[in-house]
This record gives sequence, C-alpha cells and structure tokens, in this order.
Amino acid sequence: MPAILVLHGPSLNLLGQREPGVYGTLTLAEVDGAIARHAAARGVKVECRQSNHEGVLVEAIHGAAEQGFAAIVLNPGAFTHYSYALRDAIAAVRLPVVEVHLSNIHAREEFRRHSVTAGACRGQISGFGPTSYVLGVDAALAAVAGR
Ligand code: DQA
Repeated sequence: MPAILVLHGPSLNLLGQREPGVYGTLTLAEVDGAIARHAAARGVKVECRQSNHEGVLVEAIHGAAEQGFAAIVLNPGAFTHYSYALRDAIAAVRLPVVEVHLSNIHAREEFRRHSVTAGACRGQISGFGPTSYVLGVDAALAAVAGR
C-alpha cells in the first residue's frame, strides 16, 4: 500500500477562520479528515502535516522517501510565490510532488499568479477548494503508478 505525505504550508493551520470567502469554512482538521477518507477508500495511507516554517517543509520533503512515502501532495501557501529553497528541495528528491491550492491562484492578485515551485513539481491543481487535495492524492497515485 503506497503512502503519501500531505504537506500544508504557512497559515493553513488557520483554515476555517482565515479569509473564509477565499479558502472556505472547513478547518484544517476537517480537510485532513476528507483527505484521509478519500485515501482510505483508495487503499492508500496518508500522513498530513502543517508547518509555518520554510526549513521544516524543506526537511519534510528531503526526508519523505526515507520515511517510506511514495509521493508528496504539497500546498506551499505563500511560499509558492517566492521560495527558491522549496523549489530546490522539490527538485532535489526523486519522488513525485503534486502542488495543490485551495483557491485558483491564476485568478487572484498578480503576485499569486506565478508559482516558483510548480515547475519542479509533477503538476499543479488549483482552485477546487479542499477537493484540490483529493485530486492531488489521485494525481500522486497516478504518478507513482507511472501513469
Ligand atoms: C494558497 C494560495 C496562496 O497564494 C496563499 O498564500 C495561501 C493558500 C491556496 O491554497 O489557495 O496561503 O496556497
């Protein structure tokens, strides 16, 4: 059974109360619950982690394969738009990384329309709310299966 690591970046711990008109009303725990239910239905193990710290996310990416994960689903939050450190970490590992966003970053402020991390990822899913993570899990599984 493949295992997938889901990483949430900065301020995603505040989901539910943070700009609900943009990010919805579900809490992070509820989003993680939806991801876990979907993964269980697919026969996949998931572990969800959140950090507000760039270095913690970098190290989670570095250590994922060694910890037995076959793929990563990553919402880098605001780091998406400027973290070359996260981009390099993604590029440095062999396992597939799928970038996900709750909001459609391409339909928002100019500074959000560019992702410096997506080019190092297998692909990007943006704009489907919590469903972006569910689609991200499926995309990660397809990548692991070589599809
Ligand atoms: C986000 C979009 C980013 O621009 C923002 O900084 C976030 C959340 C999203 O999931 O829509 O923190 O990654």
